[in-house]
Amino acid sequence: MSQTTDKLFSPFTFNGLTVPNRVVMAPMTRNFSPGEVPGADVAAYYRRRAEGGTGLIITEGTTVAHRVATMAETIPAFHGDAALEGWKRVAAEVHEGGGKIMPQLWHVGTMRDQKSSHNPEEPSAGPSGLKVPGKKVAEPMTKEDIQDTIDAFRRAAGAAREIGFDGIELHGAHGYLIDQFFWEGTNVRDDEYGGSDAVARTRFGVDIINAVRSEVGDDFPLILRFSQWKQQDFDHKIATTPDALAAFLKPLSDAGVDVFHCSTRRFWEPEFEGSDLNLAGWTKKLMGKPAITVGSIGLSGEFIAAFGGEGSEPTSIDKLLDRLAKDEFDMVAVGRALLVDPDWANKIREGRASELKAFTQEAMTELV
Ligand SMILES: Cc1cc2nc3c(=O)[nH]c(=O)nc-3n(C[C@H](O)[C@H](O)[C@H](O)COP(=O)(O)O)c2cc1C
Repeated sequence: MSQTTDKLFSPFTFNGLTVPNRVVMAPMTRNFSPGEVPGADVAAYYRRRAEGGTGLIITEGTTVAHRVATMAETIPAFHGDAALEGWKRVAAEVHEGGGKIMPQLWHVGTMRDQKSSHNPEEPSAGPSGLKVPGKKVAEPMTKEDIQDTIDAFRRAAGAAREIGFDGIELHGAHGYLIDQFFWEGTNVRDDEYGGSDAVARTRFGVDIINAVRSEVGDDFPLILRFSQWKQQDFDHKIATTPDALAAFLKPLSDAGVDVFHCSTRRFWEPEFEGSDLNLAGWTKKLMGKPAITVGSIGLSGEFIAAFGGEGSEPTSIDKLLDRLAKDEFDMVAVGRALLVDPDWANKIREGRASELKAFTQEAMTELV
């Protein structure tokens, strides 16, 4: 029997924040912030999603104040008066639209192309200077540089609280800086930040969480986004067993993560053999903390293929609702379906399936 959408549209509370429903807008880089400043058009774009029934918006990745954190001047920064003024307006408009909002704090690490990014004279930053395993593009970060970067995340979190956001998400996924520390392929340091020990590789993330907590206190919601897959290696798993996943997540959880945002490309895929649970399901079970699932929700194809030009048609979300009803996870993040249609959530709630939109690559060229 197919589920109703009642649970999806029921409120959920974590660390003192009540989101009106379980629909989360997944973070999506849009490159519409010239000079790194989000303008009125970006604020209106996010506001439309709140008005369209999305409970929690995670913004596109927005970069911390470190000299090589970004890779394009159209990616919004989360520092400097002009950018923060722009973000303040974004948060206010989303609140007026009835939603909650958190910035996704980001450092791109060695995924930055040094020559085409600003500060081209500066080498990119990575735990071991590796872009992919074995391919060195810079010297390993010094401890001083690591501290500066941690501090940049701390200040960004403080700014988020000050200008009215409801919490923050740390981008610890997809092979960017924080994930480059997590991944044994890009972290071959032999100090306390790395090496063959998975727990040592969490230390950079743990230090960031501790620094953020020292700045914003314990009562400001903190989401950590992580993924097994890397842009540099789609099939990689940093944890190949539930025990390994628990060992990896525990230090991060203990440091003060409120919610884990478990990035997968197809939410229905079992994470480990012998169980149907997906990555969010395992994370919730192992850590006892809320989890967000993501990946091809409401669409026929997945997002990496979409970058290659493949379109996706709307599909049923009944299987997702079944799993939500079983409490496998607590919230569901929707990417491309919300990129193309600000009213996706309301349409789902009101059963307006025939009005759902397909995703095409052209959708990425404008802020609908
Ligand atoms: C245009 C685009 C930009 C994205 N940018 C980000 C990003 O800045 N940070 C991030 O963590 N994920 C990013 N993602 C991944 C999405 O958050 C999401 O995990 C992915 O699209 C899968 O969800 P979907 O199948 O519902 O689209 C991006 C995806 C798309 C399509």
